[in-house]
Amino acid sequence: MSTAKIIDGKAIAGEMTDQLADRVKTYISQTGSPPCLAVVLVGEDPASAVYVRNKGKTAEKIGFRSIQHTLPADTAEDVVIELVNDLNDDPAVNGILVQLPLPDHIDEKKIIGLIAPEKDVDGFHPINVGRLGAGDFESALIPCTPAGSIILAKSAHGENLSGLNAVIVGRSNIVGKPAAQLLLAENCTVTIAHSRTKGLETVVRRADLVVAAVGRAEMIKGDWIKPGAIVIDVGINRVPAPEKGDGKTKLVGDVDFDSAKNVAGAITPVPGGVGPMTIALLMHNTFTAACRQNGVSSI
Ligand code: GUN
Repeated sequence: MSTAKIIDGKAIAGEMTDQLADRVKTYISQTGSPPCLAVVLVGEDPASAVYVRNKGKTAEKIGFRSIQHTLPADTAEDVVIELVNDLNDDPAVNGILVQLPLPDHIDEKKIIGLIAPEKDVDGFHPINVGRLGAGDFESALIPCTPAGSIILAKSAHGENLSGLNAVIVGRSNIVGKPAAQLLLAENCTVTIAHSRTKGLETVVRRADLVVAAVGRAEMIKGDWIKPGAIVIDVGINRVPAPEKGDGKTKLVGDVDFDSAKNVAGAITPVPGGVGPMTIALLMHNTFTAACRQNGVSSI
């Protein structure tokens, strides 16, 4: 039984951030100050707190300034609006990220729509969604997880994804839909499938490239995968792990890794696949935003 190449997202993300750290030094010598990322966290969701901490740590490691605003879960919507407006108006802030999900009493769409599009390093503002849809990569900021997923696919397949049958499982605004736009721009034949797709297994089995972003632990089994296909697993699901001891948990993807690795040509692990790439692309977007705002070359 053949065994897939395991795509080392942690190593590839590390190379990206190392390269970025060098470019940040040049940027600082040109502008006199470091790129600055502001992250807003509302509430105490432990997973969000871990992500936000990792974002801040990586930002500082590569020479960015990192600002974190942590607000209690019962913060009024108006307070979040005022904070985003202040960050928009602050010329020292280059990138703004509001960690999702927000508490139920805060209108996520409204908050995302308030972020200045040129500082929207998540690429979630409707202006950036439109730019991506129109293929305007010069001015768009691109969502980090799908952008990172494509870099990982290329690391396994080579730069040219043209003509591949790409099947994305999941249709979220954060991953599925932008991944479809990016893969179309790479000349893939793109199918967006989801949990309600009829004959999902058959659809996935046609894919040369699978992007799994459906949010269901280990849903996609090895016998759904076309032999030799590239499998990018975006899922991060916490499940019980009684084998590790009472009450213990572990992270798994949307793909059943143990069966899929015997069929796929290449596959990302969870953790250590797409996750680190999301943070690396966030740094890339922040740097791109800072360069555009200051008229400095990002190369
Ligand atoms: N929550 C889960 N993923 C993301 C992301 O990529 N950006 C933000 N802002 N929140 C998230």
